[in-house]
Formats: sequence, structure tokens, C-alpha cells
Amino acid sequence: KKIHYFEEVSSTNSVAKEIAASEEEGTLVIAEIQKGGRGRMGREWVSPHGGIWMSVILKPGIPLRHASRLTLVAGLAVANVIREIGLDARIKWPNDVRINGKKVCGILTEAKAEVDRVDYVVLGIGINVNMDLKDIPESFRAGSTTLKVELGKHIRRVSFLQDFLLELEQQYISFKTQPFSHILNDWLALSDTIGKEVKVTTPSRIIEGRAIGVTPDGALIIRKADDTKEEIIAGRCIYAR
Ligand code: BTN
Repeated sequence: KKIHYFEEVSSTNSVAKEIAASEEEGTLVIAEIQKGGRGRMGREWVSPHGGIWMSVILKPGIPLRHASRLTLVAGLAVANVIREIGLDARIKWPNDVRINGKKVCGILTEAKAEVDRVDYVVLGIGINVNMDLKDIPESFRAGSTTLKVELGKHIRRVSFLQDFLLELEQQYISFKTQPFSHILNDWLALSDTIGKEVKVTTPSRIIEGRAIGVTPDGALIIRKADDTKEEIIAGRCIYAR
């Protein structure tokens, strides 16, 4: 598989999207730093030296409505490799991997589709690895952590990346060959969202209630105070208590 390595890039997701049409599935775009790292919902993603900032091009040939499932696949793979190094990684719906309630990884999935078939999916994964908290600008620091901070020691990024890519490949094969419920069950076991009182913000509204599950497409199911249920496919999730 091809790896496009950059010392500095605007956003690995942007580069990956530019080349996706002519690249094979599994192609990786990775950079030491990003100057225009992008988070979900138009937010900025701080990407200094010491992290792993990468995008994986996938061509799963699935309907567009299933593309968000790949976010769960990636989150599960990240959480699993972090757990392998001895840290208690948990997943906050839809895509944050956290340790002790602090975010260590974010995932930005972008897809291009023709009618309802996905042409390609770019899985953008940012992992805070060897930074100290002072490397993260103050306005982003609250609620964030790094693997080095949590583990108390430096991590070999190359071997961590190799482990992650193997894990991602395994999860992806399972995604393509097994019922999605397999991934979903593993994801649910590591998620700390279900059972919590949440407040989810979408561009159009705010939904509050108890998170009681996820649908097979990865939408969060919320039971509201009036006992009605709602499914939310994308949004910003805050734990209310
Ligand atoms: C989020 O939690 O809001 C998602 C953050 C995604 C960050 C990664 S870093 C590599 C890739 N390139 C980007 O510009 N964003 C993603």
C-alpha cells in the first residue's frame, strides 16, 4: 500500500480527497504537522509535532447512508490499540476516543458518493501521542490529553502506527464480511455514552435526554423527558452529568 508522507500539510483529509479518485484503497496520507487541521462541524483541529495526523482512503462500495459506520470502525480500532498499551480508552459517541474523560483522538469521516453508492471514504484520524499539554494551545487544552501524558512516557509512533493499521485492517475486514452487529457490539462495550444523560447539538437544534443505544448505522438513540425517542446521526454530544 502506498503512503504519502509530508513534513507539513494543510490537512491530510484535504490531500486524501484530492488524490482519492486515482488511488487504491488503503492508501495513507500522513503528516508531522497540519497547518489547517479540520475537526468535525467546521472546527479547527490543533496538529503540532508529536501527534499522528493521518487519512486513510477506503473504497468499500457501500451505500452513502452506511458511511458513518466507518467512523465507528475507526474509533473501535483506535480504542483497541490504546488499550493494548495499557490505557483505559473509551469511546464517546460518535467519534471521540477518551482516556479518563479526556479526548485523545478525533475522527473526521468524509465521503464522496455517486447517487447512493460511495466512491470513496476518507477516514481522517488525529491522535495526540507524544505532545505535552503545553504543546496544545490553552483554548483547546481543557478536556484534551495525550498518550504520553496518560502513560507517563514517550511512545514509539512508528510501532504504534503499525499496530493501529493492522487493527484497522482487521476491523475493516470484519466490517466487510460480518454482520455490522459484531462491530457494533464491540463498540458498545467500549463506549461510555450509553446510559448517560446527554445534550446533543446539531446545526438545527439541541436534543436532551438519556442515551439508550445506537442504531445499526451508528445514530445515537435518545430517550427524552417526555419518553419519546429520537435518533441523531450527527452532532456534538455533551454529557450532562
Ligand atoms: C474531531 O474530533 O472533530 C475530528 C478531528 C479529526 C482530525 C484528523 S487529523 C487527520 C485528519 N486531517 C484533518 O484535517 N482532520 C483529520
